[in-house]
Order: sequence, then structure tokens, then C-alpha cells
Amino acid sequence: MTFQTKVTDLLGTNFPIIQGGLAYLAYSELCAAVSNAGGLGQVTAMSLKTPDELRKEIHKVRMLTEKPFGVNFAIGQTGRPYEHMLQVAIDEEVPVISMTGGNPAPILEKLANTSIKKLVLVAAKRQAQKAEQLGADAVMVVGQEGGGHLGR
Ligand SMILES: Cc1cc2nc3c(=O)[nH]c(=O)nc-3n(C[C@H](O)[C@H](O)[C@H](O)COP(=O)(O)O)c2cc1C
Repeated sequence: MTFQTKVTDLLGTNFPIIQGGLAYLAYSELCAAVSNAGGLGQVTAMSLKTPDELRKEIHKVRMLTEKPFGVNFAIGQTGRPYEHMLQVAIDEEVPVISMTGGNPAPILEKLANTSIKKLVLVAAKRQAQKAEQLGADAVMVVGQEGGGHLGR
């Protein structure tokens, strides 16, 4: 069964369902399970300690599924630098990168000349417009109920 929408066309999934980047929950197993079920699974990069750990998680996802998946960057949550992790995701040519919790501009600029699909979490019209201007392929709109990370 498929359920064709602009989202499924963009992501290459069977359903317009995107697993949230869930800090310390969304590792390769969950990601692959969601992608195998027809949604878009995601690995949350900032739950991992090193770029090498992220590379291993990405390889594990690819062993568990051939379907599209994403890597999520919660850049405002940890205060940790993320540039090396982002480079791993780019080098590995992951299908999708999503971002939240901070200014998406540096990530979107870095991804501009890649084929990686760019998703930005937003909680306001102004943020959505900014993401669109900066080249996001889609926005994911969340409210305070989404863990309170955005939209307070
Ligand atoms: C415990 C918890 C951790 C989360 N961690 C992240 C995260 O690391 N990155 C992210 O983009 N969103 C994170 N979120 C937000 C979720 O991915 C999602 O956007 C939110 O829960 C709204 O989706 P829902 O309405 O389907 O629950 C987190 C949410 C919760 C509840």
C-alpha cells in the first residue's frame, strides 16, 4: 500500500510519516524499523558522542534497510559543535538531514550543493518563511506539545 503526497514524492517513502528526532531514543534500530515500515526513520546525531559513532550508526541503518532515512541535528539542545558530525552525514550521502533548535542557515548553506533533502523543524510562520528562503525542501511544524523544544 502507498499513500502518495508531496511528502512521499520528496522523501521517496510509502507514507507521509516522519519519525521525530528523539534524543537518546532514535538510533539505527528505530530508524530502520520506521523506514522499513514505509515512513522516514531518523538517527539523532546529537545523541552520539563522536563523528565516528554517527558513521557507524549510518552504516548500521544501511545494513538494516535499503529505504530512505534521515539524520537529525538538534543543534540548539546540546551546545556542542556539530560540524564534524554534519560532515559525516554529507560524506555518507544520507538521503535526508533534518534540523531543529537553532539557526538552520549554516547547515542549509553547507547542504546547498548536495542532493540531500533538507527538512527544518519550525514552530512559527516566520521560521517557516526563513527556512524556505534559505533553501529548505520542507518544514515540519511542531508546537509546545512536541517535547517543548520549540514553540514555547
Ligand atoms: C523526549 C523527546 C526528545 C526529542 N528529541 C528531539 C531531537 O533530538 N530532535 C528533534 O528534531 N526533535 C526532537 N523531539 C521532537 C520530536 O521529534 C517531534 O517533533 C515532536 O515530538 C512532535 O511530534 P509528535 O507530535 O508526533 O509527537 C523530541 C521530542 C521528545 C518528546
